[in-house]
Amino acid sequence: MNDLLLRLRDETRPHHTETEQLLYADALRSGTLSTDQYRHLLLTHGIFHQALEAAIDNEPAFFSDYRPDSRRKTNWLRADLETVQLSLPVHPQPVFADWSPVQLLGAAYVGEGSMLGGKTVWHYLEQSEALQPLLGQARFYRGYGVQTGPLWREFGEFAFAQGAPDADAVVAAARQAFDCYRKIFGYTAPQVFGHLPADTSVC
Ligand code: HEM
Repeated sequence: MNDLLLRLRDETRPHHTETEQLLYADALRSGTLSTDQYRHLLLTHGIFHQALEAAIDNEPAFFSDYRPDSRRKTNWLRADLETVQLSLPVHPQPVFADWSPVQLLGAAYVGEGSMLGGKTVWHYLEQSEALQPLLGQARFYRGYGVQTGPLWREFGEFAFAQGAPDADAVVAAARQAFDCYRKIFGYTAPQVFGHLPADTSVC
């Protein structure tokens, strides 16, 4: 593992723990995640990945070795959301609008790293009785499958090549991207649970 990935892992650990906890980790681990909680998770991931992929597509030169087409998750999430009668917003709140390529690299670490926990999370989802009818066609939480290791290693090399000179900025942006996740989770809750959004400002 290169120095940048080590720093990212160590210096965002509290953010991972906090985010995981907020995103229904207890319900997930005890096999009691409800259908609405699952819908809420899909919407949160969908808004994050849709915004991140669009922002990365605006920086093709910087992200060429990231191989964006090998990492797209928005269409998986679109399909999963359709299964639970939700859709991604046509005019989403701006997320990552003013982020530089180096900052987007920090956000990409959060998006790609989240695929590492996928196997564990899939195992938990399978424990939930309520979700069984939905998991047959589920795509997002199956993640990269056997490609997980190779894609993560390739991401590490890309991140080091493009981000090592600006390591402090990459780490700060990764922390901020975890915060974005939590904000998206907060403002999408009303859409799933049926009351009005309180605050729609994001990041
Ligand atoms: C309950 C939900 C979650 C669980 C159980 C979980 C679990 C895990 C596990 C087990 C790993 C380590 C995998 C390995 O080293 O092979 C991991 C890594 C990671 N997860 Fe999560 N995760 C969860 C949610 C999330 C979310 C929502 C995000 C993003 C917002 C996220 C971002 C990351 C990142 C960035 C890493 C990489 C850490 C590294 O640098 O090695 N995780 N997760």
